[in-house]
Amino acid sequence: MDNNKQPQLNGAYYGPAIPPVEQPHQHSHHRRGCCCCLFNILWIIFVTIIIIVALAILIFYVIVQPRPFKFTVTEAKLTEFNYENNTLCHNLVLNFTLRNPNKKLEILYDKAEGQAFYEGTRFNTTDAITWLNSFRQYTKTTNRTSGVFSGQQMMVLDQDQLSHFEENKRSGIFDIDVKVYFTIRFSLNDFIPGDMKAKAKCALEVPLSSSNGTTVAAFKLTKCDVSY
Ligand SMILES: *[C@@H]1O[C@H](CO)[C@@H](O)[C@H](O)[C@H]1NC(C)=O
Ligand SMILES: *[C@@H]1O[C@H](CO)[C@@H](O)[C@H](O)[C@H]1NC(C)=O
Ligand SMILES: *[C@@H]1O[C@H](CO)[C@@H](O)[C@H](O)[C@H]1NC(C)=O
Ligand SMILES: *[C@@H]1O[C@H](CO)[C@@H](O)[C@H](O)[C@H]1NC(C)=O
Ligand SMILES: *[C@@H]1O[C@H](CO)[C@@H](O)[C@H](O)[C@H]1NC(C)=O
Repeated sequence: MDNNKQPQLNGAYYGPAIPPVEQPHQHSHHRRGCCCCLFNILWIIFVTIIIIVALAILIFYVIVQPRPFKFTVTEAKLTEFNYENNTLCHNLVLNFTLRNPNKKLEILYDKAEGQAFYEGTRFNTTDAITWLNSFRQYTKTTNRTSGVFSGQQMMVLDQDQLSHFEENKRSGIFDIDVKVYFTIRFSLNDFIPGDMKAKAKCALEVPLSSSNGTTVAAFKLTKCDVSY
């Protein structure tokens, strides 16, 4: 019996085995049994709570079906896009639509900042939605906004980027990326849990308008990726 217990005592006690060890051992057995039964009850309560919370979340999702809004660029008008002396002169006007596809949730658009990129470099930033024109979007509706990027920005294009620019210039269609950073709030029966950030990424192919207003091709409506 003592020989069997030897490995357990290993490292703790190297002296000869002392008989009194047996007594406390028996006591701790009793105490542990009581702890176990309390622990079991707590465990059952804990698991039950987890299951109830999981069910509540599941039911919430099934009933409310929260979905991200849809963001689409419907029109892009580019009247200037010149790169000279390390400066990009640009004039780009974009029309967007925002659609709330939810049946139960309304969306409050508090802020939207649009950023325009060419060859990975940001060349302008614009506030599409500010506190001045923030709005509440009802379920299953679509609203319009627009963004204007117009000015000149210092930027340096390397040789590859420059040849890509020349290629775009020849074709008359420029590859411009637009990212829009939103601050929104969802609203469920006027319960508004708090604001959250969302981001829309749009890869646009924008035809340049010539001085008489014609373009080589019509702008293709572009759906953007919306993520939270
Ligand atoms: C670029 O620089 C050249 C020479 O410095 C100048 O003649 C030209 O007008 C400049 N172009 C623009 C668009 O500023
Ligand atoms: C784009 O927006 C401007 C201003 O909001 C509007 O005048 C124009 O008609 C819109 N274009 C299209 C194609 O929706
Ligand atoms: C958003 O669209 C709805 C329905 O089309 C319209 O009633 C509401 O006035 C629009 N809101 C804004 C701020 O344009
Ligand atoms: C960006 O666009 C805005 C709005 O058109 C304009 O006021 C601003 O000067 C532009 N900024 C740059 C750096 O071109
Ligand atoms: C517009 O200008 C382009 C060249 O910039 C030319 O090819 C086209 O024929 C012009 N269109 C009209 C209607 O004048």
